[in-house]
Amino acid sequence: MALREVRTMGDPILEKRSREVTHVTERMKELIDDMFETLYEQNGVGLSAVQVGVLKRIITIDISEEGNEPVVMINPVIRECDGEQEGYEGCLSVPGKTGRVKRPYHVVVDFLDEDLKPHSMEGDEVFARCICHECDHLEGKLYVSLVDGPLQDVDDVEEEQEKRTKRKKMRVAKGR
Ligand code: NI
Repeated sequence: MALREVRTMGDPILEKRSREVTHVTERMKELIDDMFETLYEQNGVGLSAVQVGVLKRIITIDISEEGNEPVVMINPVIRECDGEQEGYEGCLSVPGKTGRVKRPYHVVVDFLDEDLKPHSMEGDEVFARCICHECDHLEGKLYVSLVDGPLQDVDDVEEEQEKRTKRKKMRVAKGR
């Protein structure tokens, strides 16, 4: 296993459409292992192959904090979308930045596993957001094109959220 270099916004490869996977090679399995390693090293929740410079329809997602297993999806297709959610989104290809994006609340995605066996999975909230975000990468689309208004610095947003939590705690302490 090895870490891969994550391409960042401005790199033209991030605007390209990734190609369908028709067979899985040893090299591709190595790529998937490397994608997970890179994802964990960078504290991300999702990574697509194009972000490490490979134009193949492969995404890796791990939001295990939310009680899900790490998952690799090959040739993912979002079959159903329901509802709406809005929240902050970030991307390893756009380091230090964040912005609010509207996404479906619930998605159903069809994909192949590493043995090219078909699966279907449902996702809500963060998982749905992540699936949409990674599938957009395969079309050459970054979340920044979906953000209403300017991108913000992650540090500023975190600071603001901390202040809000503190204010809330103070109100609770005062019995309000
Ligand atoms: Ni991303």
